This record gives sequence, C-alpha cells and structure tokens, in this order.
Amino acid sequence: MSARRRFDAIECTVSHLLRLPHPALQGRRYGEALLRGIAARGITGSHVLEIGGGAGHVAEAAWRGEAGPFTQVRWTSLDLSPSLLAAQRRRVHEPSQPRGPHRRWSGVRADALDLPFRSFTGLVLANEVIADLPRSIGPVRLVGELARVLTPGSAAVLTEFGGDFEPAPLDLGGHVEWSIDFRELRACAAACGLTVTELPLHELLGADLSVRCASYTDLWRLRRLTTCDVFAAPAENVRRRFPLLSRLLALELPEIGSPRWPDATAPGGFAQLFRALILRKT
Ligand SMILES: C[S@@+](CC[C@H](N)C(=O)[O-])C[C@H]1O[C@@H](n2cnc3c(N)ncnc32)[C@H](O)[C@@H]1O
Repeated sequence: MSARRRFDAIECTVSHLLRLPHPALQGRRYGEALLRGIAARGITGSHVLEIGGGAGHVAEAAWRGEAGPFTQVRWTSLDLSPSLLAAQRRRVHEPSQPRGPHRRWSGVRADALDLPFRSFTGLVLANEVIADLPRSIGPVRLVGELARVLTPGSAAVLTEFGGDFEPAPLDLGGHVEWSIDFRELRACAAACGLTVTELPLHELLGADLSVRCASYTDLWRLRRLTTCDVFAAPAENVRRRFPLLSRLLALELPEIGSPRWPDATAPGGFAQLFRALILRKT
C-alpha cells in the first residue's frame, strides 16, 4: 500500500491533515509550526533524528519551509518500515520542488526500541509514533533508549493522543490504536534522569483553535461521492468548491479546537487529547 493511501485511509494523523500551509497555523505547515514551537522552548540543534516519519511531511517542511533554527538542518529518518522510509526518501529528494532535493537527509531502517546509536546530539522527534509501538512496554522502552543516547543539552519531543488516564482503545475505522498514559511516561523519564515538560500539542504548535476546517469525518463523507485530498481544508474553501455537497451532506467543518476535530466519532479531539512530551538531558 502506498504511503499516501495508508495515511489517507488507514491511520490519518494530525500532521497529515495539516501538511500544507494552514490558517490555523499562521499559514505554516504542521512541520514548520512544530519545529518553531520546539525552538521557542529553547531547544535547538544542528541535527534532527526523526523516528517514524511516515510519509515524510515533517522532514520536507524542515527542508523546503521555514522551520526556524531547524530549517535545512541535517536530518536522519529512522523507521521500521522499508516502504515508508522509501516514501520519505522520495518526498525529500523530489528535484522539481523549491530548494531541490534534500542534501542533508539520510534514512536508517531500525527499531525505535533498539536505537542503533551510542549517543545522539541534537533533537529527537517522534510525532504520533508511540501509540504504534507495542502496547505498554513500547513507549516506556523508547524513553529508556532516549535517556541512553541523548547527550547533555540534547532533547526529544514525543507527541501522541492520551493523557493522565488508563490507556483506552480508539477505533480509527478498522485500525485500532490505544491512547498513551502520559503519567507512566513522565515517571519513567524522571526515573531515567530526564527533565520532563508536558503540554497540549496545540500550544506547542501555536494553533488558532477557532479556525473551522474539514474534519476527517467530513472528508470521508465527501470522498464517497467525489474526489478530494485528505487535507483539513479551511471551511470556506470546502464550501466554495463543493457548494451543493456541503449542504447535501450537512458537512460539519468544525473548529479545529472542537472535540469533533479531527474525528467526529472519537471521545475527544486534537485540542483535548493530543499532548507533547519534551524530554531534556541535562
Ligand atoms: C502513525 S505513523 C506516524 C507518521 C508521522 N510521524 C506522522 O505524524 O504522520 C507511525 C510511524 O512510526 C513508524 N514505526 C512504528 N513502529 C516503529 C518502530 N518500532 N521503530 C521505528 N519506527 C516505527 C511507522 O513505520 C510510521 O512511519
């Protein structure tokens, strides 16, 4: 299955929905907003290790966009999936795009639970990856690996849905993921000697939660009758492009801060459930 189809249809992530410049992110791509938000918290570095880069949109945004001090830095993508790693390589090496092919990108096929490094200096990023790791042991083991490899002054940022509650299943339409118990991760990180900060992901991104746009649910309904990208297009664009279908399907086009975005059937949304954990080695 292509990376595009996987993220369009099977496990659509927030970063996939916001991969293009978006009004909720001051006209930035998700990757740009994320890296700038990280830099605004005093974290810099000339090398990013991205674990589980999926289709490669964050790496692409750092190369082609404006990601503050992370713009065009050396980038290493580590992924367990050879096909996703190949998709990331294709995306960042696209020669016809602005700034041409990424000249500082390399890919490593490896397991995040057994990082193939003795040490790492810079920023480690795992965006919506930890819910894909083996349940309960995976995320904690990754935190242990980060504590092992990060050099003093380096940091890691993990984003995922969850909170201070027991893991619960979330059915993404045939693909079930479990939420993350952030209490467990904070305790593990502190026990490993890392300094921990946790905040809502929307705060790290500086997202404007009042912007209305297509939810995954709206897009799923639209795509049964017409062709459109799986992208959180702003509400006015959707209504302009599909005036009849927007009314016929009673598209909701909720505020991005609504519990019904990105998925109207989930128990909470991006603003309520998505967290970012910042781990620093001092
Ligand atoms: C849900 S996707 C997230 C993709 C991307 N970061 C995003 O936000 O759209 C999870 C990613 O983690 C990778 N992954 C899952 N388990 C892994 C592991 N044990 N080691 C390394 N990568 C892993 C998958 O191949 C995929 O690229």
